[in-house]
Amino acid sequence: MNDKQLVALHAATYVKSGMLVGLGTGSTANYFIEELARLQCDEGLKIITVASSTVSAQKAQSLGLSIVALENISSIDLYVDGADEITPEMTLLKGRGSDLVKEKLLAKAATQFIVVADESKLVNHIGQNFVIPIEVIPFAWQLTKKSLENAGAQGDLRPNAAKDGFWVTSHGSYVLDMKFDASISAQNLNDLISNTPGVVEHGIFYSLTDIVLIAANGVISERMA
Ligand code: A5P
Repeated sequence: MNDKQLVALHAATYVKSGMLVGLGTGSTANYFIEELARLQCDEGLKIITVASSTVSAQKAQSLGLSIVALENISSIDLYVDGADEITPEMTLLKGRGSDLVKEKLLAKAATQFIVVADESKLVNHIGQNFVIPIEVIPFAWQLTKKSLENAGAQGDLRPNAAKDGFWVTSHGSYVLDMKFDASISAQNLNDLISNTPGVVEHGIFYSLTDIVLIAANGVISERMA
């Protein structure tokens, strides 16, 4: 069993019958979804799920999990998802895929938000390994990019897979992938990007995480807020 699978299986021990559970996106979250389906089938676990992306919804559905639409919920019991970067203060970078809006809505709505990852995701500061994905309203992208550049950022619109156009998220936003000065704190970066006109949402998850579960060489460690 690899570390991503190990940590996802451990996160599933937090799930209790009757819960409404948010499903994350990515390879680690996929292991969690598979384990929920197994618990439902083998141990009679009764849960309803809500997905952070179309791909997670399809996976959950194909495994027989009950899914409710995001627009039909106002809170959830538990959200389990991976991350692209995790700082010592439990700030996350997410959204390398393109569903960070749904991911952040679920993180905020959850009574408990558990992040699952292997140790490759641990960083000293946000933006260490990846650019920061920033979803923008399409007609605003140039003005928003200029505002961010004036604040010292560098970057550009994310291209689509065929590299002949721009990436469009599942609800119609463009994505600016931007790099900022490493000396800016996560809180200041979060405030700066959130307060920039044209921004729909961004990949910094500040002060949202309750528990981080990390697996390293078969050993799980837990950090709590
Ligand atoms: C998706 O948009 C991201 O926020 C994911 O949570 C992230 O990419 C984690 O992926 P892995 O679990 O595959 O590393």
